[in-house]
Amino acid sequence: MKIQTFRQRKMAGEKISMVTCYDYWSAQILAESTVDTLLVGDSLAMVMHGFPSTVHATVDMMATHIAAVKRGAPNKFIVGDMPFLAARKDLGQAMDAVMVLMQAGSNAIKIEGAAGQLPLLAHIVESGVPVMGHLGLTPQSVEGLGGHKVQGRMEADAQRILDDALALQAAGCFSLVLECIPQNLGERISKALDIPTIGIGAGPHTDGQVLVLQDLLGMQQAFKPKFLRHYMDGFGQLSHAVNHFHSDVVDGHFPSCKEVY
Ligand code: KIV
Repeated sequence: MKIQTFRQRKMAGEKISMVTCYDYWSAQILAESTVDTLLVGDSLAMVMHGFPSTVHATVDMMATHIAAVKRGAPNKFIVGDMPFLAARKDLGQAMDAVMVLMQAGSNAIKIEGAAGQLPLLAHIVESGVPVMGHLGLTPQSVEGLGGHKVQGRMEADAQRILDDALALQAAGCFSLVLECIPQNLGERISKALDIPTIGIGAGPHTDGQVLVLQDLLGMQQAFKPKFLRHYMDGFGQLSHAVNHFHSDVVDGHFPSCKEVY
């Protein structure tokens, strides 16, 4: 996948798949998959580091994970998240963060929100760095939003998100994540834009879909928001495998005579 492919896919009516990826190990698996794009999302602060929100991701943390993913999947298109407030500082500090994420191995960066940062977004794009927008539920604003809630249910909010989407497109974003919005708003925004939308909890009419890898693998059975589909019982299968190893060890079944030097 190349940057031009995103819009070509939309024009051809072909959906785009994106999956989060945070480490070398899973990147090697995704490198061999048909998934179009990898997102080193700031959700890694929660999934990989156990923090309560994405607010805890830092530029250095993002760069470490992006570099690991790049080593595991050098031929995949990698989008790296600008972490909490990294785009809200002065231009110099924001551009320093962009530089670190790109030099770590990103092909593009993703920035949450629109208000107050459109000139910065345009500057990043004019500097040759592809930018993916992110509207709807923007998890870095979880405190301001009062929790992880569906956004844009009221017409005024829906119109504001649509206006922001058009503004992000005008600023030069090549694509846009739409998170946790009603499906009719996902459809309305996707139809209004020339750039592709990639939805998570935004219904079937967006131009692509993204899920957190560990979520789609069912690594946390208790985490099952309405939009999520578990493609396997990863928690159960991994637990079964390591418990099987344990019982083989204590029962003396591992190693066998074929597994020794
Ligand atoms: O960080 C992330 O995982 C994301 C996705 C939810 C789109 O931004």
